[in-house]
Amino acid sequence: MKKTPPKQRYSPAPPPVISQLVTPPVTSQLVTLPATSPVTSQLAALPVTSQLAVLPVTSQLATLPVTSQLVTLRDWLVFAEDVYERAGLALGQIATSAHDEALYLLLRTLGWPLDSDASALERRIEPAQRIKLREVLRRRVVERVPAAYITREAFLGGNRYYVDERVLIPRSYFLELIPGRLDLWLPDGGKKVRRVADVCTGSGCLAIELAHHFPKARVDAIDLSPDALEVAKINVRAHNLTRRVNLYRSDVFDALPPPGAEAKAKAGMGAAETGMAGTGTAGAGAVVGTEAENGKYDMILSNPPYEPSKICDKLPEEFQKEPRLALDGGKDGLDIIRKLLAQARERIAPHGIVVIEAGGLRRAMERTFGGLGLHWLRTKDGSDCVCLAQAKRLQAARF
Ligand SMILES: C[S@@+](CC[C@H](N)C(=O)[O-])C[C@H]1O[C@@H](n2cnc3c(N)ncnc32)[C@H](O)[C@@H]1O
Repeated sequence: MKKTPPKQRYSPAPPPVISQLVTPPVTSQLVTLPATSPVTSQLAALPVTSQLAVLPVTSQLATLPVTSQLVTLRDWLVFAEDVYERAGLALGQIATSAHDEALYLLLRTLGWPLDSDASALERRIEPAQRIKLREVLRRRVVERVPAAYITREAFLGGNRYYVDERVLIPRSYFLELIPGRLDLWLPDGGKKVRRVADVCTGSGCLAIELAHHFPKARVDAIDLSPDALEVAKINVRAHNLTRRVNLYRSDVFDALPPPGAEAKAKAGMGAAETGMAGTGTAGAGAVVGTEAENGKYDMILSNPPYEPSKICDKLPEEFQKEPRLALDGGKDGLDIIRKLLAQARERIAPHGIVVIEAGGLRRAMERTFGGLGLHWLRTKDGSDCVCLAQAKRLQAARF
């Protein structure tokens, strides 16, 4: 049945796409569209593509002529949405709907503003632009390259981050927790936070969000992957935070100086080996307060790899394009979390908190770390998969 394309779903301002790009789904909650879905009515409304509708999606792209009758951005959007659906592309890395992701990708490829008003949909696509759009869709649909790796960017809240294949695409639940929700657990509503660790920093996005939220804090951003740290370095520089965000290459806290080493060094007792990746200068004037000087953290935060290995093996192709090291938490998913909690004991200040995103591991965490009195923080989507442990319980507990 032939229907007209749907009416505008492209709302003009505030920025229509970006505001929807950063819902934080986790890999265990992927929104995967069905692999075989009927040809949509929109596609049938397009003269050229309707003739291609019976072909598998990859051959559609291969045969789509440059001079196709996809005339306007709207035509391309409708086409792209349909191709997304029929190819069963996995979503959830930068957007949870094909519409949002495809529109973002098209606008970025054209170099048009993401907050273009709705009239952009009626703009004609020139032949040279068609070639670019076609190539981008080919990479996304046929090669299954995640959109963020094509555009080399991802958004977390209002902040833009450089990303590429060396890092997980930012989509953490911490986006909704860092701006205010963790402060309640800290003395003076977080005003005295001077020292924070972001363990498993990847692109550095959470370390940077933390540095923005706690303007007097120094943030130690830790990752095992030198590749990821290279990306983090780009982001730390772009956000002008090299004085406050220090990058360390380390397996959790293994390579960091022991707590107190810095104070001793300052007091002339010898410098500690730091293993720093070298974007910042540790203790660059922002660190004050006894606990901070002792190298203890007010907060240790982490979005670690937490998928059980078997789940990683079965992830959709797009997610397998992300570094395995960023996703794979070992047999039960808890490898890094176990180590982190054990090492956090001696690094957290007595008033401090440890906050960990744990995906689908809530039950396993309760079973394994029952004595910690974990608090599960509420998240908008109801998954409540970020837990918080207070220093005193952590230090007293056996696990
Ligand atoms: C889920 S990603 C999180 C990245 C970033 N924090 C975010 O939220 O987008 C996990 C990161 O942990 C790092 N990682 C894996 N094992 C690690 C370990 N043993 N010690 C430190 N970092 C590790 C990976 O390289 C990856 O960058």
